[in-house]
Amino acid sequence: MSTVLITGASRGLGLEFAKQYAADGWDVIATCRTPDTASELQALAAAKGSVRVLPLDVSDASSIGDLAFKLMASSIDVLINNAGVFGDRAGFGSVDYDVWANTLRVNTMAPLMIAEQLVDQVARGQLKVIAQVTSKMGSIADNTSGGMYVYRSSKAALNMVNKSLALDLAPRGITCVVLHPGWVATDMGGAGAPLQPEPSVRGMRAVLAGLTPAQSGKFFNYDGAELPW
Ligand SMILES: NC(=O)c1ccc[n+]([C@@H]2O[C@H](COP(=O)([O-])OP(=O)(O)OC[C@H]3O[C@@H](n4cnc5c(N)ncnc54)[C@H](OP(=O)(O)O)[C@@H]3O)[C@@H](O)[C@H]2O)c1
Repeated sequence: MSTVLITGASRGLGLEFAKQYAADGWDVIATCRTPDTASELQALAAAKGSVRVLPLDVSDASSIGDLAFKLMASSIDVLINNAGVFGDRAGFGSVDYDVWANTLRVNTMAPLMIAEQLVDQVARGQLKVIAQVTSKMGSIADNTSGGMYVYRSSKAALNMVNKSLALDLAPRGITCVVLHPGWVATDMGGAGAPLQPEPSVRGMRAVLAGLTPAQSGKFFNYDGAELPW
């Protein structure tokens, strides 16, 4: 039985990852900030004994440490750093630097901290995959409209974090990739987004299932296409 750990599983893409992996028979460690209010995730856990809900605020180093301690003896096949925030949409001249700092903490620093704390568990897994849910908005090549300093920079930096992780963890046989989910109808993506969570996550799971170590460090769209940096 394979095990996946997902951050930000209370709603949106994280919840959809939990649902799909559970439906496929995986053991799911579904983490979220406030398990008591994550009603849909709790309902999934009640229906599927293979889903375990654990608290994790990715912006809090002690919360990450507590999770790693609880999972000390576990193995994780696939670790998905999915939790994320948009920050703000402010343009040139009105960026809120405190919001930016928090966005970097959640979107960029937390995935590295979580990888540092859980690397032994991933190394013990069979599949040995770490995936970061990034965004095409973090692609420098794809930026033709400007603005969105906060979110764009947090995901561009996450992409660089992943590249170094891929190189650093290759000797342990761990494959690290960044995935763009598409523009998806979640709280973040908005109701008008063209893609639903189900096909987005189905696509990302297919990418993860087909990965080879030679693909570590790459940037994939949810449909498997490689994206420009
Ligand atoms: N939707 C899109 O179109 C789109 C496009 C490109 C990339 N993405 C990326 O996809 C990922 C998932 O986004 P989504 O669309 O599912 O957004 P969402 O519906 O807004 O969900 C965001 C998730 O992140 C969690 N989260 C935020 N801050 C957290 C923290 N400090 N600790 C733990 N969890 C935290 C939220 O938990 P709470 O419920 O506790 O707030 C929630 O579960 C993000 O990394 C996002 O940047 C989304």
